[in-house]
Amino acid sequence: MDASLEIPGIARLATGPGGLPRYEITTPLAQAHVYLHGAHVSHFAPTGQRPVLFMSAQSWFQGGRPIRGGVPVIFPWFGPRQESPAHGFARTRAWTVESLRQEPDGNVVLVLRLESDAETRALWGEPHDWVLRHRITVGTALGMELEIENRGAAPFRCEEALHTYFSVSEVGAIQVRGLENAEYYDKADGMRRKCQDSGPIRFTAETDRTYVNTAAACAIDDPGWRRRILVEKADSDSTVVWNPWIAKAQIMPDFGDDEWPGMVCVETGNVADNTLEIAPGGKHTTRTRVRCEALQ
Ligand code: BG6
Repeated sequence: MDASLEIPGIARLATGPGGLPRYEITTPLAQAHVYLHGAHVSHFAPTGQRPVLFMSAQSWFQGGRPIRGGVPVIFPWFGPRQESPAHGFARTRAWTVESLRQEPDGNVVLVLRLESDAETRALWGEPHDWVLRHRITVGTALGMELEIENRGAAPFRCEEALHTYFSVSEVGAIQVRGLENAEYYDKADGMRRKCQDSGPIRFTAETDRTYVNTAAACAIDDPGWRRRILVEKADSDSTVVWNPWIAKAQIMPDFGDDEWPGMVCVETGNVADNTLEIAPGGKHTTRTRVRCEALQ
């Protein structure tokens, strides 16, 4: 490990499960873990509060396989794609450290980087050259900014998402607000296009919805833990909401059969109708900010 990439007493590069290197960040404001594998935030907790992110106890920690829980970085496609890895390849590659610093306000900012190479071109099946930068800010809120830069001579189209798994007391008791009247594709119902009613989302069965054309922030109200998680975003027009429920949990090898009540995904991105087109030399940055407040 290169000690110059650490901040003594604040951010150290440690060896996580499966021998995967991860940053362990501890400040007076919060605690977080970030793997270089996938630029994956696996843990975030403001000081004195319970963890905000869900992590499966059955997760793989292995090169080439995604981590189950936390915040997988999805690029350059969302969902399955013939013989290629589901949700793209960014979440299963080794990223490098571009910078690490602590700001005067106490926030720690870690920037991780991934560049195209012969392998990514083969996996994509298209010859694009790009750089991804994932800027992670650990403070009382968790900030994540995913920048995509097109370094090639031609435009390319891509999807991307910050596939955030949140820890909740009991998914059947929570509600997600912010997507009222938004249109979505219902993956749990043959990808039918539907419109959310004017009420919050409640969970009573498998829920797998890709909301499009919505820039709205979401709130996850969790009365069991008297906590509201706020998911704010910018330059993101899609939000995916997912809970696998009973049957799907049982068929996922890296997810416990009884873990589904303790999680919900509310994912910030640009997918489906909101697929991005990035011009040569152009950049796109999706931003999200996650913070908690007491639910009265
Ligand atoms: C969600 C998708 O974002 O991710 C679901 O909408 C999918 O359809 C889920 O099952 C998990 O995907 P994966 O590839 O991590 O098992």
